[in-house]
Amino acid sequence: MTASCALEVKGLSIKFGNFTAVDNVSFCVNRGEIFGFLGANGAGKTTTIRMLCGLLKPTSGSALVGGLGFEDGGWGIKKIVGYMSQKFTLYNDLTVGENLDFAAGLRKMDPAFAKQRRKELFGLIGFNKPLSSKVSALPGGIKQELALAAAMLHDPEIVFLDEPTSGVAPASRARFWALIRKITGLGKTVIVTTHYMDEAEQCGRIALMRTGSLIALGTPEELKNSAFPGPMVELDFKEAEAFAFISGLKNAAGLLELSPHGIRWHAAFADKALMDAALSALPPGASVALIKPSLEDVFIRMVEGAER
Ligand SMILES: Nc1ncnc2c1ncn2[C@@H]1O[C@H](COP(=O)(O)OP(=O)(O)OP(=O)(O)O)[C@@H](O)[C@H]1O
Ligand SMILES: [Mg+2]
Repeated sequence: MTASCALEVKGLSIKFGNFTAVDNVSFCVNRGEIFGFLGANGAGKTTTIRMLCGLLKPTSGSALVGGLGFEDGGWGIKKIVGYMSQKFTLYNDLTVGENLDFAAGLRKMDPAFAKQRRKELFGLIGFNKPLSSKVSALPGGIKQELALAAAMLHDPEIVFLDEPTSGVAPASRARFWALIRKITGLGKTVIVTTHYMDEAEQCGRIALMRTGSLIALGTPEELKNSAFPGPMVELDFKEAEAFAFISGLKNAAGLLELSPHGIRWHAAFADKALMDAALSALPPGASVALIKPSLEDVFIRMVEGAER
């Protein structure tokens, strides 16, 4: 394993019957990194994470998670990772204290150590409600922060967060991401999935998955540069003019991507000369501005574009 790698994955695949859910995926996550998994529904993000948590046995390939492999059936890995799952986080009918005691019990933690960790983690997430609070009565953002605390109770080096902010209000999402940065600041490694592009921008590196395969890997900037090697413009029309021009533009030479963004359009080209030719007959009143591609543009081009 490379010295700085917290996690090294080589040719990981899993089949469910004849269906390949994860196909020959390889990557390395650095210690202390925020590593994002992006991809459409069903791309294989959760399945990859469940293998790397030791919960699903790969059909082929290997991984070292904190230096440990799958040879023992994933038992070693389970002990050293934290996992906040996509569907289930905490029991709503139990109190905060009961949930954390249950999490400690599952991991057979020493009660004194569990209590000390609980205190540390409450400090980290800024939790100040009574232990006797029912989880069902907590706001969604706070519930997710507590679920993170539960996943980190045993002080894991590597933490997997599967859509931790799904359905959470924007201010609470920002709070949660501040927490993720705090955790990696403490030297932990975080692997996180999200469907929010503003969150993806905050990752150190991103792995982009499509139908089980890893199709791109890099920093947000690297992904933008490789998806869009040429210029991108934002086009703004008076509504009536747009339709005819856009349908013509779809066939322009060198067009890499054309997508609606609210009432405007983003158009990317292979190079400036082809862009100038394609936009030479803009309808009157239309405006055009050079823009930098966003991760949303990358996602549209690399994931949704290929699936259309
Ligand atoms: N136990 C299973 N048996 C059969 N198919 C499965 C099983 N688990 C997952 N799949 C399939 O594998 C594919 C990948 O699913 P996965 O949950 O990993 O996707 P995802 O990227 O996490 O999607 P989402 O963004 O919706 O969470 C899907 O087609 C899913 O239906
Ligand atoms: Mg998932």
